[in-house]
Amino acid sequence: MRTLIVYHSPEGICERMAMAIAKGAEKNGEVVVKSLEEASPKEMLEADVIILGSPCYFANMSWQMKKFIDESVEFYNSLKGKKGGCFASSATLKDGKDALLALSVALEIHGMEVEEGPLSVGVPDENLLKECEEYGERIGKSR
Ligand SMILES: Cc1cc2nc3c(=O)[nH]c(=O)nc-3n(C[C@H](O)[C@H](O)[C@H](O)COP(=O)(O)O)c2cc1C
Repeated sequence: MRTLIVYHSPEGICERMAMAIAKGAEKNGEVVVKSLEEASPKEMLEADVIILGSPCYFANMSWQMKKFIDESVEFYNSLKGKKGGCFASSATLKDGKDALLALSVALEIHGMEVEEGPLSVGVPDENLLKECEEYGERIGKSR
């Protein structure tokens, strides 16, 4: 079981969430965690579970994450049936929910079975990071 976690995080919140999710996912097998700058959409082909994390920018995912997803169209039809996950951070609950939904819809368009993950509104506290870890463990269990 291989989990790929790709995050965009200029201010570090999604990075902290990604590391906590990775900690949970490690209980189910191999985990590759990469910042968006290091990752390539091609890496999604080798993963059983694909989790994307983005800050909320104007009530959507960041344009950098959107670019990554747009580029993944090359693998449209090859990612069907994989497990998809997403997480986000934002300043407000309302906008953050929209960003999370945008991520989730993108993975659904690829034909993945999606389970939305945590949203951190502001700096994540211990409970939120625990939620991330539990999510990382849970999402791989269903494979
Ligand atoms: C260009 C830009 C646009 C943003 N737009 C929103 C927004 O529409 N709604 C919101 O709640 N937060 C918005 N934010 C705040 C970020 O979502 C928030 O700081 C986030 O936690 C940053 O994540 P990171 O630490 O992983 O980079 C915006 C931040 C930036 C830089």
